[in-house]
Amino acid sequence: MRASVWRRSLVPVVALFFAAVCWIAIHPFGRVKQFDPHPAGISDLTMPLEVKTLIRRSCQDCHSSQTVWPWYSYVPPASWLIERDVGRGRDHLNFSGWARYSAKEREKLLADIASVVKNHEMPLPQYELIHLDAKLSEAEIDILYQWARLERRKLKASSTSSPSPKLFLGQNSHLYITNR
Ligand code: HEC
Repeated sequence: MRASVWRRSLVPVVALFFAAVCWIAIHPFGRVKQFDPHPAGISDLTMPLEVKTLIRRSCQDCHSSQTVWPWYSYVPPASWLIERDVGRGRDHLNFSGWARYSAKEREKLLADIASVVKNHEMPLPQYELIHLDAKLSEAEIDILYQWARLERRKLKASSTSSPSPKLFLGQNSHLYITNR
């Protein structure tokens, strides 16, 4: 009698355990945690230290391959929401893959960075809620904004700089110098 009661109460416990294991194994937004095609980190980028510090503090978890995964990022359904944000964040901008972006892509991303920080769109509010130190002060927003704009201007200048002067022979047999 006793043993059968035990067995009967054990069935739901075992079933629940397996359900939990299956639940944790489900990744509706992909296996984001296994992603690491860009081993480079933000420390490898050339940028002022204060900019690097801010990006590490407020953007790195969603916009690099160096995400720090806290314990609750393994517990569904929180894990699903976090994996979704990190996956989408990296799709838009991955600092670990910065070297692979073309000059045009970098220009666009720098413009986007300037715009999202200025408009208080990033870091995402749900992230700031948990990572209290991630919120950017107005002064910090200005540092990121000015940096992104300056970098963009530098990129633009180097891509549109006039080619070196060339010599060409005119119809009247004179040599001319042209910048075109
Ligand atoms: C909690 C994760 C998270 C954090 C932290 C975060 N982002 Fe994002 N970021 C996202 C997601 C998700 C998207 C895509 C939003 C969408 O699809 O609309 C995104 C999009 C972007 C984009 C592209 C916007 C566009 O219009 O295409 C830029 C630029 C960006 N983030 C910059 C930053 C910067 C700079 C920081 C740090 C100050 C930061 N993000 C912090 C998750 C994050």
